[in-house]
Amino acid sequence: MTALLVDRIGELVTNEPGGRDPLAIRRDAAVVAVDGRIAWIGPAGGAPACDVRVDASNRAVIPGFVDSHTHLVFAGDRSGEFAARMAGEPYTGGGIRRTVATTNAAPDTELSANLAYLQRELTRQGTTTFETKSGYGLGVEQEARLLRIARQVTAETTFLGAHLVPDEYADRPDDYVSLVCGPMLDACAPHARWVDAFCERGAFDADQSRAVLTAGIAKGLAPRLHANQLGAGPGVRLGVELGAAAVDHCTYLSDADVDALAGGDTVATLLPGVEFSTRSPYPPARRLVDAGVTVAVATDCNPGSSFTSSMPFCIALAVREMHLTPAEALWCATAGGAAALRRDDVGTITTGAAADLVVLDAPSHVHLAYRPGVPLVHTVVASGEIAYQQGIQG
Ligand code: NIG
Ligand code: FE
Repeated sequence: MTALLVDRIGELVTNEPGGRDPLAIRRDAAVVAVDGRIAWIGPAGGAPACDVRVDASNRAVIPGFVDSHTHLVFAGDRSGEFAARMAGEPYTGGGIRRTVATTNAAPDTELSANLAYLQRELTRQGTTTFETKSGYGLGVEQEARLLRIARQVTAETTFLGAHLVPDEYADRPDDYVSLVCGPMLDACAPHARWVDAFCERGAFDADQSRAVLTAGIAKGLAPRLHANQLGAGPGVRLGVELGAAAVDHCTYLSDADVDALAGGDTVATLLPGVEFSTRSPYPPARRLVDAGVTVAVATDCNPGSSFTSSMPFCIALAVREMHLTPAEALWCATAGGAAALRRDDVGTITTGAAADLVVLDAPSHVHLAYRPGVPLVHTVVASGEIAYQQGIQG
């Protein structure tokens, strides 16, 4: 039995549900983790002795970030596309094909090394749970390979064979959908928890996306969807109708989309790194929260539309550009992400939850947005173990 104590916490964000303050902040607190789970929360100085002690020295402690949407298994660089966009080119999604080519040409060892590098970035920035997906293979063996590699680092893996129609199927996209729903799904389902599709003009329409999600559900996968990123469309309502855990992007929403989300239990995942990096309008976060929709904030870390692994950066954008309060943005990046992954064991600091927490080098969570771009992650505890400490290699 390993016990770890985090003591002298100035501000403890627990996200414990039920109270008036969604962050359920406690002051002058301590937390004990035993065997990877939170075993005790109480006043600073009142905790039982433990094998390992982290002195928070009156800093703020928050739940580890839950990044519910990333694309981390890829090879290659698309910084040229970003530079062109900043000079006025639009983002179309067509660059996905470039990453498919470089990814399929890379050996497993290169993909695993890139993934490990990005995983370290996530950890150092306070992320303790993350989803990642296939989608840069677009072939049966290629997609299965990406998921096998992803499965080595997270249980939250998503099959995204329906990311884009590959060139060789350009004049017969429905044949590609049949491939995705048949042999590709058969090869990928054993390595995936989720099934996803890019429901967007230029990618997959509502019928094609429905076919993919329905086939995935029949194979035991749970649905989620990329929707309404580049324009208005049927994706959000389709996701709600199919009981998707989350619809991701939600940049262009109609009143009917907001009503559907408010009436269902699908989370709206907002990815402000995309709007930053593609110079697009930000999603209507305020409207969603005010309508009672559960909102998550995630990075969408990928080489095309949002090459950031930083949840603090996304929180800062959510506050500055999407008009969430610092408290709301933090909730969306922790408990909201957990809801988007249908997880009740992460995203909170409550007894029984995974002992995933971050000591900030700041007295309050507000600093995450108040001090944008500043590395405020002091210590990361993941499953009750120190995963990173500022100034110490981790
Ligand atoms: O979530 N929208 C679709 N897929 C990714 C972008 C992928 C890329 O450009 O490589 C996204 O933004
Ligand atoms: Fe994405």
